[in-house]
Amino acid sequence: MAEIQHKGWDWNAVRPGTWNEISEEFCPVALDWIGKYRSVLDIGTGRGRHALFFAEHGFQVRGIDLSESSVAFVRKQMEERGIDGMEVALGDMTELPYGRECFDCAICFHTIYHTNYDGVRRALQEIHRVLRDGGEAFITFNAKDHPCYDKEKSVDGFTMVKEEGLEEGIPHCYVDENDLFALLGDFDILSMNKISDYVRKGREAHGVHYYVHVAKK
Ligand SMILES: C[S@@+](CC[C@H](N)C(=O)[O-])C[C@H]1O[C@@H](n2cnc3c(N)ncnc32)[C@H](O)[C@@H]1O
Repeated sequence: MAEIQHKGWDWNAVRPGTWNEISEEFCPVALDWIGKYRSVLDIGTGRGRHALFFAEHGFQVRGIDLSESSVAFVRKQMEERGIDGMEVALGDMTELPYGRECFDCAICFHTIYHTNYDGVRRALQEIHRVLRDGGEAFITFNAKDHPCYDKEKSVDGFTMVKEEGLEEGIPHCYVDENDLFALLGDFDILSMNKISDYVRKGREAHGVHYYVHVAKK
């Protein structure tokens, strides 16, 4: 399997005021988790929109991201908003620095695909390891019918590494539903939806993603 370099986002270069509201696809699941669960891990926390939401709803929260600018941003937010019961750390989703079965739930939103197919598989094993029995996760995946996917130019049949722009050098792994059924064998799939974006918040958008809600078997 081809080796791949993981690389975090430079959040200082991302338009301010974006990625700061809880995502609409995840919202119904997030509301269901409140009152039902107490701890959550946000993998690839970014600007911390989901982690901060849960912290403000009384959860014990851990956020992790490969990007120093993400961790710095979230720590500042925690300070400004007077949030405790939450920690954010620098780290890689394929080697989570947490023990077995220590979270009720996990979110990995628009993050798990920043690796190759083998990396996605390892990140899923890590999510499975850190979740309690029956614990739930909400994970999004890039779909192969995304216009950026080209099997011929891919690293491993799944993965493209962006050559320019904000995400230069950052891998993107693309899967289809059969890949997902194979990857998610250790989980019960509670819902799986595929959404094509054309416009988001009034701006042109070009994503095709799977939104998957699972429970640990
Ligand atoms: C598209 S952003 C999504 C941020 C956040 N989940 C959200 O929905 O607002 C992807 C995030 O994943 C992080 N990331 C990329 N590769 C990673 C890895 N191997 N381990 C942990 N985080 C990673 C990036 O630094 C970035 O913050």
